[in-house]
Amino acid sequence: MAETTSYDVVIIGGGPGGYNAAIRAGQLGLKAACVEKRETLGGTCLNVGCMPSKALLHASELYAAATSEFATLGIEVAPKLNLGQMMKQKADSVGQLTKGIEFLFKKNKVDWIKGAGKIAGKGKVEVTGADGKVTVLDAKDIVIATGSEPSGLPGVTVDQQRIVDSTGALELPEVPGHLVVIGAGIIGLELGSVWRRLGAKVTVVEFLDRITPGMDAETAKTFQRSLTKQGIEFKLGAKVTGAKADKKGVKVTYEPVAGGKAETLDADYLLLAIGRRPYTDGLGLESVGVTPDKRGFIPADHFKTSAPNVWVIGDTTHGPMLAHKAEEDAVACIETIAGKYGHVDYNLVPSVVYTSPEVAWVGKTEEQLKEEGRAYKAGKFPFSANSRAKINHETEGFAKVLADAVTDEVLGVHLIGPSVSEMIGEYCVAMAFRAASEDIARICHPHPTRSEALRQAAMGVEGWTMQA
Ligand code: FAD
Ligand code: NAI
Repeated sequence: MAETTSYDVVIIGGGPGGYNAAIRAGQLGLKAACVEKRETLGGTCLNVGCMPSKALLHASELYAAATSEFATLGIEVAPKLNLGQMMKQKADSVGQLTKGIEFLFKKNKVDWIKGAGKIAGKGKVEVTGADGKVTVLDAKDIVIATGSEPSGLPGVTVDQQRIVDSTGALELPEVPGHLVVIGAGIIGLELGSVWRRLGAKVTVVEFLDRITPGMDAETAKTFQRSLTKQGIEFKLGAKVTGAKADKKGVKVTYEPVAGGKAETLDADYLLLAIGRRPYTDGLGLESVGVTPDKRGFIPADHFKTSAPNVWVIGDTTHGPMLAHKAEEDAVACIETIAGKYGHVDYNLVPSVVYTSPEVAWVGKTEEQLKEEGRAYKAGKFPFSANSRAKINHETEGFAKVLADAVTDEVLGVHLIGPSVSEMIGEYCVAMAFRAASEDIARICHPHPTRSEALRQAAMGVEGWTMQA
């Protein structure tokens, strides 16, 4: 326990929003405390989100490659799955990462106050430890960074045994014979891919008539085709109306959204992944007069809530529910508290789906530009025409650049293909500097690399792509 209970800033929640806020506050010389009730720091992202899911995506991708792709390269192997070891290496990496945040707290003189935080009126945070002991912290400023939790669905009770949310799906004790996923969003498709690659039959039931809402529609179609080829089955325009679990499995009932006959699916496990909602349970918001909106988000203007000196960042307020968005919020919020200038351009927060192929995008989709009535030109380049992708037998997908028809400013970039998560950053930088597509088209890229597809797509905007 820290000796002093008076702080410049107390941050409630130790996820990417909270820990980045705390560290930045420490760096700027503010006396900072971060209240976190989990056993480890890092929030959803490090403990049960980004990091464990990427660990399983990486391992399962290599397993799938060893099973079906290595032979093409002339490498004969007979891979055998050791699920226990796969889970252990995931837990080991996660453990190292969460410890790393503890180290950064110490380095930047941030106090980690272990326990559940509750705002108890202006400038006060009460922390209840696991032993029930209550500590009161005085704070000039309070930052809410309590994150989000999985949304529920009536008729589907998550028991983390047979009916799981993302946390349970990261810890299944066996490869399911049949995994049914509710929701063709990012979680459903990333975790569905993990278990499909390890051998499960995977069926995804999605309410809409398309997958991954928010993704550029042409990209989503290509993505769906690729996942279908990998063996994932989609039931689009369908809603799950109930799920009954017993010791051996789950009976899932669904029906067409447009109306029609109900059908059932027999699953070994059911994953509910229909979105996340802000988490503010027991936070004492009423003590400072802050009221969440209808969907549970805390409204804010540049992170300022309706209560003086109470701020909110990350998944608990508006904007994409992404770790790097929470991190951007954190830095801008703390810099504002410290009297500096904090700014986030939410149009430039990239999105990535870490499946195979990967999907990555930033800026506007074609649908958004059409809706805004903005005239644009598109340039597109397929990875099948990229020499490095061809040599590596990774030819699925394309790069697409959307640029303003008059000024040529890049407005949106949509990538589906190999390693595109590592490539989208180039366009984030370009767009932050308000680059024209011609700027990218005239910048030398190394050969042979997949990044040449990014340049070729930009060249395509003016119609001078070099494509066979
Ligand atoms: P959180 O990370 O949710 O942290 C909030 C913390 O606050 C939690 O640790 C919680 O215990 C604590 N807390 C809550 N209430 C209290 C209280 N009263 N007192 C004390 N502590 C409290 N995003 C990406 O950008 N990339 C990805 O690849 C990615 N993958 C994901 C995979 C999965 C399976 C999931 C579920 C999410 C993924 N996300 C990903 C989303 C990402 O995890 C979140 O956007 C991010 O964690 C939000 O950060 P946050 O700090 O706002 O909240
Ligand atoms: P999501 O919002 O991405 O997708 C939910 C899907 O469920 C949508 O397609 C929606 O139409 C569908 N749906 C909603 N209600 C339904 C119903 N009753 N029946 C059937 N389908 C229904 O939410 P998801 O996948 O749960 O992920 C939550 C958030 O976590 C993401 O939005 C993202 O912000 C974050 N995340 C980010 C990752 C990344 O950056 N790679 C990875 C995983 C999660």
